[in-house]
Amino acid sequence: MYIDTHCHLSKEDYDDIDLVIKENKEKNVNRIIISGCTKETIVESIALADKYQEVYLTIGYHPSEAKIITSKDLELLEDQIRNNSKVKGIGEIGLDYHYGKEDIELQKDFFRKQMKLAEKLNLPVVIHSRDATKDTISILKEFPQVIGDIHCFSGSIETAKIYVSIGYKIGIGGVVTFKNSNLYKVIEAIGIENIVLETDAPYLAPVPVRGKKNSSKYIPYIADKLSEILNIPVEKIAEITTNNAVTLFDLK
Ligand code: NI
Repeated sequence: MYIDTHCHLSKEDYDDIDLVIKENKEKNVNRIIISGCTKETIVESIALADKYQEVYLTIGYHPSEAKIITSKDLELLEDQIRNNSKVKGIGEIGLDYHYGKEDIELQKDFFRKQMKLAEKLNLPVVIHSRDATKDTISILKEFPQVIGDIHCFSGSIETAKIYVSIGYKIGIGGVVTFKNSNLYKVIEAIGIENIVLETDAPYLAPVPVRGKKNSSKYIPYIADKLSEILNIPVEKIAEITTNNAVTLFDLK
């Protein structure tokens, strides 16, 4: 059995969500953790987790929301988390400097507030970090009790090792199957015991469906690639990454 530890599920992207869940099961992807990371998608994700037993949640505000989210919204987020047993983590939260650095201090403050919430509620975090490795690591280190995973990791071996050393798993998705990806080096260096699988659907579909709309049902393509890289049977990849996800997100 597989767990997709990070994806997005919304009526905007999928006409028939019953079908998505059914197709996931046919591919042995029996649990998925969807992320709501804007006001609207948090509400929609909560409703989907209510409806489908297989769907779990992480909720938290993406760094791109830093400018519009108020302290009242963050209080509401805390309530939404406290009142829902299917919320298994906070995220995706983090830093994104890709589109410029003019709001860097605002982003950092916003990230710290949500890390504080994770610490207070004793929940793992799902980290979005883009062009912001140094600041991400230094803020994570301010919260040594908090663990989580680095969603859609794309950095160096050294960076991956730092994250692992401070208690984080590395989220590996479709990018690992791309022709020019160097992620195999990271995977060889950190080992399967530090990896969780994710699709980030509807984005970043793996080869051989690259360019199409992604879905959790494609997780086996990612597992096959890891099996090839590490020379470990795919059943073992499934077992270990599922255990990693169950432990990190307390899915028992
Ligand atoms: Ni995502």
